[in-house]
Amino acid sequence: MKSQLFATKTVAEIEAADAADAAGHKLNRTLSATALTMLGIGGIIGTGIFVLTGVAAAQHAGPALVLSFLVAGVGCAFAGLCYAEFAAMVPVSGSAYSYTYATLGEGIAWFIGWNLILEYLFAVATVSVGWSGYVNRLLSDFGVHIPYALSHAPFMQAAPDSFSIVHSGAILNVPAVLIVAVLTTVCYIGIKQSSEFNTVIVSLKVAVVVLFIVMGLGFIQHANWHPFIPRNVSRGEYGWSGVFAASGVIFFAYIGFDAISTTAQEAKNPQRDMPIGILASLVICTLLYVAVSAVLTGMVSYKKLDVAAPIALALNAYPQLHWVVLPVDLGAILGMTSVMLVMTLAQARIFYSMAQDGLLPQTFSKIHPKFRTPSTGTIVTGSCAAVIGGLFPVGLLGELVSIGTLMAFVTVCIGVLILRHTRPDLERPFKVPAPWFTCIGGALVCGTMIATLPPTTWVRLVVWTVIGAVVYVFYGYRHSKLHKPIGQVPAEQPAEAE
Ligand code: ALA
Repeated sequence: MKSQLFATKTVAEIEAADAADAAGHKLNRTLSATALTMLGIGGIIGTGIFVLTGVAAAQHAGPALVLSFLVAGVGCAFAGLCYAEFAAMVPVSGSAYSYTYATLGEGIAWFIGWNLILEYLFAVATVSVGWSGYVNRLLSDFGVHIPYALSHAPFMQAAPDSFSIVHSGAILNVPAVLIVAVLTTVCYIGIKQSSEFNTVIVSLKVAVVVLFIVMGLGFIQHANWHPFIPRNVSRGEYGWSGVFAASGVIFFAYIGFDAISTTAQEAKNPQRDMPIGILASLVICTLLYVAVSAVLTGMVSYKKLDVAAPIALALNAYPQLHWVVLPVDLGAILGMTSVMLVMTLAQARIFYSMAQDGLLPQTFSKIHPKFRTPSTGTIVTGSCAAVIGGLFPVGLLGELVSIGTLMAFVTVCIGVLILRHTRPDLERPFKVPAPWFTCIGGALVCGTMIATLPPTTWVRLVVWTVIGAVVYVFYGYRHSKLHKPIGQVPAEQPAEAE
């Protein structure tokens, strides 16, 4: 078992397994650099900026939230550069999972693939709950009231950060289930359709974010920025420790750029366009985030921002800006919609890659003969996310998403250095600049953000990992294609009936 755990697949083997897929139906190569950048922004801007900024400023960083966004942005930029090197060199849909298979072996690749399920599938569920909350609030502003029992999760945490779950009196979060069902259908029908739908949404939500920045600029009161870093009260509460604690919270806002790398097999020119898509979406969102947090904390005192809709609160503070609240609410809803869309696409492709390696059942590696999408993976992703989002509260899920993603980022940063050492000869269409500094810096900043997450999240990660280990021992290990010669691998995939 030890040798299999540490056995790596060479880059050539990973690509050969994907080429062998030609025996079945292939994914559709339709995505340009612009479409990839739009997918990145689609996955990034959502709950994080519209919801979490308030709590992060009020409880942890104060006006220095801008610095927290820069810290998290630097960690993500380092990780993004590492993703770009891998995505251009190994343009397959497994993302961090496949990169780890090529560098650290099957055991850790499984761990990362299992963690990516935490990131993508749980992100869909988490964001669907936030989406439902926003839609309920907007509808009630227009006099449409969905009954409590049908708009909330039946289970809730007894207290924040608590392990005990109690019944809330509700039956099902119907809006959360419905939005996941609609987006799963779009993802099932095709990557081109999904990308076009995403581009429309992204244009609107970016317009709304820019509208807030431009309108809010004139209402900044410099007194709100003083003191810029409020004096530390306790660990994580203001001061520099608060800046870092806030960066752990708002890291969630950056998650999503990495999801682009799961569509590498659907990119027209992955070697050139993957790095462009990953880095351009990250830079655009970082600039927007820094601007939003500066304007937000300048408009109202950070002490007032401890609410679920901080941007609406800031706008409501000025009668001249009340008209901007509705577009911002709609922008938030659209933002969350594209996040769910991109995460559903990404999860289905991670399942696809893991199944190609035999670590998950073969049905996940089927490509729909007409729509050319990983259809089973898409349906399973949507169904699981709908059940989780329909039944569970959001607080329980969000930090799990962050810790799963950060684990993947640390591993990818280390993986780049390892592969530079073990395979210096490989062609690298994009190279991480100053690799020792960037890779170690990325691993350290992301590792620090992991350390700021609450202990309960760690415990949940351990539970999730133990479940993953059991699945690997009883399924993945036994069915791994490492037991079979690589060339024979996916040719046996049955095509799904049209
Ligand atoms: N970055 C995504 C969001 O903020 C996950 O919703």
